[in-house]
Amino acid sequence: MNQSTPEMTPSDLYRRLLKYVKPYWLVFSAAIFAMAVFAATETGLAAMMKPLLDGSFIERDPQTIKLLPLGLIVLFLIRGTANFFTAYGLGWIARNIIKNLREEMFESLITLPSSFYDQSTSGQLMSKLLYDVEQVATATTDAILTIIRDTLTIIGLLAWMIYLNGMLSLIILTTVPIIGYFVYKISTRFRNISKNIQDSMGDVGHICNEVIDGHREVKTFGSHPYEIKRFDKVNQKNRQQRMKKIATEAISQPLIQLIAVLGLSVVIYLATLPEMLEAITVGSFISFITAMFMILTPLKRLTKVNSKLQAGIAAAHSIFSLLDQTPELDTGIKPLDHAQGDIKYQRVNFQYNNNNGPVLKDISFHAKTGQTIAFVGQSGSGKTTLVGLLARFYQITSGNILLDGIDINEFKLNDLRHQMSFVNQQVVLFKGTVADNIVYGHQEHVSNERIIEAAKSAHAWEFIEKLPQGLATHIGQNGVLLSGGQRQRIAIARALLSNAPILVLDEATASLDTEAERHIQAALETLMKQRTTLVIAHRLSTIEKADKIIVMHQGKIVETGTHASLITNGQHYAELHRLQFHEK
Ligand SMILES: Nc1ncnc2c1ncn2[C@@H]1O[C@H](COP(=O)(O)OP(=O)(O)OP(=O)(O)O)[C@@H](O)[C@H]1O
Ligand SMILES: [Mg+2]
Repeated sequence: MNQSTPEMTPSDLYRRLLKYVKPYWLVFSAAIFAMAVFAATETGLAAMMKPLLDGSFIERDPQTIKLLPLGLIVLFLIRGTANFFTAYGLGWIARNIIKNLREEMFESLITLPSSFYDQSTSGQLMSKLLYDVEQVATATTDAILTIIRDTLTIIGLLAWMIYLNGMLSLIILTTVPIIGYFVYKISTRFRNISKNIQDSMGDVGHICNEVIDGHREVKTFGSHPYEIKRFDKVNQKNRQQRMKKIATEAISQPLIQLIAVLGLSVVIYLATLPEMLEAITVGSFISFITAMFMILTPLKRLTKVNSKLQAGIAAAHSIFSLLDQTPELDTGIKPLDHAQGDIKYQRVNFQYNNNNGPVLKDISFHAKTGQTIAFVGQSGSGKTTLVGLLARFYQITSGNILLDGIDINEFKLNDLRHQMSFVNQQVVLFKGTVADNIVYGHQEHVSNERIIEAAKSAHAWEFIEKLPQGLATHIGQNGVLLSGGQRQRIAIARALLSNAPILVLDEATASLDTEAERHIQAALETLMKQRTTLVIAHRLSTIEKADKIIVMHQGKIVETGTHASLITNGQHYAELHRLQFHEK
């Protein structure tokens, strides 16, 4: 979101949008044809006034009297058919474009680097996907409808008027530049307002999201009044922006109509002058006035089309700025089937994009195949960051990370990540059954036996078994709710099943009851067998069994060794150990 695309001009945006219409050009052409037919029937309607009055009523021509009512029916039949095909055709194209845009946005979204997600809220992104896409499609199809159909209608009617009386038409036409000036003025204002509306919609979504996700925090902190106040503020802002738009729209219409009516009054005055009355038949005059009145409605819509177009443009800008985000860097070409699991960090430095200074400084260590390396250190010392770099969630600033002696940047990203399973501080479970969650990420079919085996090894089977539908029980929304420890054991089962040579464990700090703790400990031990394990440890038992303990402090490695040697050393680790495990 930070790298918006300011160089996109409205005409660039139009052109880009047109590309989405291109595949449907056949339907689009048909719709345009239907619009032209519709416009022609409008002119036809005004034109019919002339024979109706002059022929049927004044001259009482029997031929005209017979044919006119029939003609009227035919005209409305054609008009109705044309109208249907226009609406259906444009609607069909719009829905297809919406679907395609959403697909593209979703595909773009899941390939974006972690740094992008750090800087955007889910509310903003959801609003783009849900609201802006609708906006761009409906606004532009509405606008196209008006621009093509109404313009053609206006041209047709004008041509008819000029044919009837050139002088009178000329007077009418003088109002056009005046209207044009107002339209131009108003359109600029609309565009700014539309953008603000979209932003404030994102804010509304963002706060809703936070309150929904953080409903526990809201409850425990009793922050209801604060959240309500915060929400009221953005809600109010949204209303204000909307009202601005409504006001501008409301003023623009009567203003333009007033100008048009001024022209009309002049026409009526001039046309009823005695010398004019002689040159024009009653039928022609009424037909002229009818055409003039009929022009007002499409003209009115044409003045409103700008607000539509500008809204569409603002939405398009928001959509394209997401589509234009650079996806995650994947320049590696080396395939990797199954790594040995030898990991080496060499003088790694790292800093997040937010310019808050280096987070990791000069990190070097070696984890041999099958070893368990434990990371300990104060909160914020960079442990999660350090292990995340192995999966290239972020690009390191300098130094190298080697896997089996090869720089990790040389591997295909997917292949590299396939070598590791992560069990994170916060376990995310997806909508679906317990089984779906255990096999998550597996491309091929996994038999129930294997799932059960993994669940058993992860000590998850004992609680899964007791669920109403066992493995087929739905989790989360509209399903069963699991405890923190149970979620972790599902994540462990997931990791076991993936059978990756590297395991990255970010232990939850929250202490579990001893029973759950014992289960998880046993599950982890199964998991760590024959794998290179990087574990961010808070449990003494995990730490003591590690081959090597790395002590972190403010982004640096300050001590390395085994439990016994570090205790003997009596420095950082000994201090941490004393604080964490003895003085509780
Ligand atoms: N996505 C991010 N963008 C910017 N800065 C971040 C990001 N994640 C973490 N940081 C910063 O990097 C530093 C290290 O964070 P990290 O999460 O690696 O610590 P940690 O050692 O895992 O802490 P804990 O034990 O609390 O999990 C912190 O100062 C934190 O503010
Ligand atoms: Mg952490």
